[in-house]
Formats: sequence, C-alpha cells, structure tokens
Amino acid sequence: MALERTFSIIKPDAVAKNLIGAIYQRFEAAGLKIVASKMVHLSREQAEGFYAEHSERPFFKALVDFMTSGPVMVQVLEGEDAVRRNREIMGATNPADALAGTLRADYANSIDENAVHGSDAAASAAREIAYFFSDEEICPRTR
Ligand code: PPS
Repeated sequence: MALERTFSIIKPDAVAKNLIGAIYQRFEAAGLKIVASKMVHLSREQAEGFYAEHSERPFFKALVDFMTSGPVMVQVLEGEDAVRRNREIMGATNPADALAGTLRADYANSIDENAVHGSDAAASAAREIAYFFSDEEICPRTR
C-alpha cells in the first residue's frame, strides 16, 4: 500500500494533562511519522468551520466550547494506511466503547472530552490538513 497522510488533533483535555509526548510516542511506535505539527488555540470561528458538518447536532455548541477551551496540538501523520491505522490507535469516539490500549480508552475523560481527533477517510484527511497547514509547512520524510 502507498504512503498516506492523515490529520490529527490532540484535544484540550489531553494537552492540559501533559499527554502530548505520550500520544506522539504511540503514533511513532505504530510507524506513523509526524510530518507537520503546531500548537494552536482555536478561535470559535476556526472550531465552527472545522466541525461544520456537525453544526446541526445537539452537542455542537458544547463541542466548540470544549475545542476552544485551551490549546490543541494539530499534526499531519504519514505512513502506510495512515487514516485507518490512526483510527485504530485512537479507539472509538466514546471511550466507554474504546478497546483497551487505545488512546481514548487510556486518556479520554468522556465522549465530550475524548483526547484526540483523527480523519475518518482520505478525502476528509486532505480537507482537514489543508484547513490547518500550507504545503510549505509539511516536511515529507525520506527516512
Ligand atoms: S458520531 O456520533 O458517530 O457521528 O460521531 P463522529 O462523527 O465520530 O464524531 C462526532 C464528533 O463530535 C464529537 N462529540 C460528540 N460526538 C457524539 N456525541 C457527543 N455527545 C459528542 N460530543 C462531542 C466527537 O468527539 C467527534 O469529534 P472528533 O473530533 O471528530 O473526534
């Protein structure tokens, strides 16, 4: 399978708990390489735009409140089958359903504060990467 890229967020709850390094370690141990990364404190406008597809859902305001409550780390991960592999590492949206050993099982507070985001498909990965990073900010890894 060819190299693929996916987009990831370490959410405010996990940043506040000082888990950035622990989560990066999981990505790297799974063979995913970080090819772009930065810390951002999202504005409401940025969070609402990023989650626009959920704007009609009952939890939308709470989701935007949470995602703007503190800084997040945003990153692009590269590797074989990166979208699926990252979703596997993350575990289910609701930590109560997440398999043991996944990031959400280990680190999420609840379905509302669930530690990480990862793109769910190649098309959404491309859109989400472009939402946060210019081409120049992404460093392809040759080794
Ligand atoms: S769903 O319910 O299967 O459609 O959820 P999903 O499409 O995977 O993601 C919805 C995003 O909203 C966040 N969120 C919640 N989802 C469901 N219920 C509640 N109460 C809720 N609160 C917040 C959820 O974490 C997903 O965010 P991301 O960042 O994509 O993981």
